[in-house]
Amino acid sequence: MPPRHFLDVDQLDSASLRRLLDMAHAMKRGGRRGPAMVRPKALEGATLLMIFEKPSMRTRVSFDLGMRQLGGEALFLSGQEIMVGKRESIEDTARVLSRYGDIILLRTVDHGTLLELARHASVPVINGLTNHSHPCQIIADLQTVEEAVGPIETAKVAWVGDCNNVATSWIHAAVRLGFELRIASPPSLQPHPDLAAWMTREGGRVTVSADPVAAVEGATCVIADTWVSIGDTDVERRMELLGPYRVDEALMARAAGNAVFLHCLPAYRGNEVTAGVIDGPQSVVFDEAENRLHAQKAILAWCLGVESV
Ligand code: CP
Ligand code: NVA
Repeated sequence: MPPRHFLDVDQLDSASLRRLLDMAHAMKRGGRRGPAMVRPKALEGATLLMIFEKPSMRTRVSFDLGMRQLGGEALFLSGQEIMVGKRESIEDTARVLSRYGDIILLRTVDHGTLLELARHASVPVINGLTNHSHPCQIIADLQTVEEAVGPIETAKVAWVGDCNNVATSWIHAAVRLGFELRIASPPSLQPHPDLAAWMTREGGRVTVSADPVAAVEGATCVIADTWVSIGDTDVERRMELLGPYRVDEALMARAAGNAVFLHCLPAYRGNEVTAGVIDGPQSVVFDEAENRLHAQKAILAWCLGVESV
């Protein structure tokens, strides 16, 4: 059987996505060691090999602890050490690491590197963030929305700012689960033509405009992310383009009364969001950060096919 990679949300059908989300909720209910949808210590003896070519706090810590809580262990490998695709071929790296570990996680700049690694790995590969997408974040985000405002299928989600890697995974999720997603970005930072074409082909309820107020009007969930992602070099241009896309109290007031604010973190107060919003009563960003742990325990169990034990 081919390994069950977790590379992108668009690779999952709606039933698998729903199952992952239910597992994430169950993992949280189960707590650190309690029973969840898997038997305790379901990953005993398993090793996660984590290659980080970019900085990380949440992804690294939550995957490491998640493995420990499921009875397995995780090994951190710095990008400088492994030099994926530079010291030797990606294929050789994939084949060797598959002999050592049970799951490989990669955070890298180029999405193509991730796909190449997955193509040659005989164990599951997890996308720990690329320039293209951040699917682990989105499972935690969907979980957070469900906790705060109810079933994701009925949510009205507004994304304000750069249509970046996190936004791409939100678009994948919206199309697969059929919920309403309104993107507001400056024209030059809107979805890549390939992604726009995919959205049109697949259907769904995703709209794209340059108008943050129209996007947020009546939304039950408002999301922002950094204006400058890791690897972006056009900092000044972005600051200028994205100035009108700051989520402040006035913009948040256009959302539904019970709306929540999400941000994957790290956040830059005063740029994409004001301190009043991210530190205010509607913000669920620390639940969101916590949920990385629960959601990724579900992803780990799913990758190894132990979820229904
Ligand atoms: N949100 C997120 O992925 O955080 P890190 O970059 O700290 O892992
Ligand atoms: N869009 C951000 C997300 C960080 C978790 C980046 O890629 O830097």
